[in-house]
Amino acid sequence: MNINSSISSMPIAVFDSGFGGLTVLKQLLQLLPNENYIYLGDNINIPYGDKSEEEIINLTSKMVEFLISKKCKIIIIACNTISACAYNILKQKYDIPIIEVISNGVADALNKTKNNNISVMATEFTVHSNVYKNKINKHNKESKITQISCKELCPMIENDWYSYDNRLDVLKNYLKNIDDKSDTLILACTHYPHIIDDIKKTLEYNVKNSIKNIIDPAYHTSMSVKEYLEKNNLINTDKTNDITIYTTASVEKEEKIINIFMPKDRKYKLEQIKL
Ligand code: DGL
Repeated sequence: MNINSSISSMPIAVFDSGFGGLTVLKQLLQLLPNENYIYLGDNINIPYGDKSEEEIINLTSKMVEFLISKKCKIIIIACNTISACAYNILKQKYDIPIIEVISNGVADALNKTKNNNISVMATEFTVHSNVYKNKINKHNKESKITQISCKELCPMIENDWYSYDNRLDVLKNYLKNIDDKSDTLILACTHYPHIIDDIKKTLEYNVKNSIKNIIDPAYHTSMSVKEYLEKNNLINTDKTNDITIYTTASVEKEEKIINIFMPKDRKYKLEQIKL
């Protein structure tokens, strides 16, 4: 067995502060169905979007060390907040390929917008970091970017979105801030694609909106992972394809979310861990 073939059967690691990164895992499963995966959600410490930079870096380093201890071949930061806060630090600190979601979301948005007027929904941390705005303006300084900080969404999605009777009102309140001329909306928190149907419904309600493209950075991120693995000859060729989901909260809660949001034709091993 050569070195590459033993690395290729190692899992792809995906992590997030909670359930959001499952939207990225879902895309990866479609694009790379024969890979082994490990997923880690720090559900006990969510939301990260309200935390300080120092807190996010501390929690994230523990997660990355856990994933490395599981002998993964690549790590995907399936969280915009962590990507905004810690990607550069993690890249410097750890000697393992790491892919983040933000530059992938930006690339997809820039490909699709026709008028360079883009709105971005994200956590407080991601909005205040201005990372989307800066990255888009680096490509085109004329682009008009409207950033909307959606503080309540991530905790509501994590705590069973459909149990909130006021959920569409909460969404309306945020989405009314989209620039009337934006043709592209980036879902810059990996939790938001879980509620894409309600987002679409709410956009339709606002007759003034001109959104033509809704960007889920998970799609472009998965494409980047595939390209990286192909280029480095690291695609798994073994028959095993395991998916293990680790959570710092309860396995029961994770199981419920998986039943709602994840493909039913796959088997998921669930394990609670302490970081
Ligand atoms: N899914 C995370 C993101 O993409 C949620 C952040 C949070 O924990 O607040 O930003």
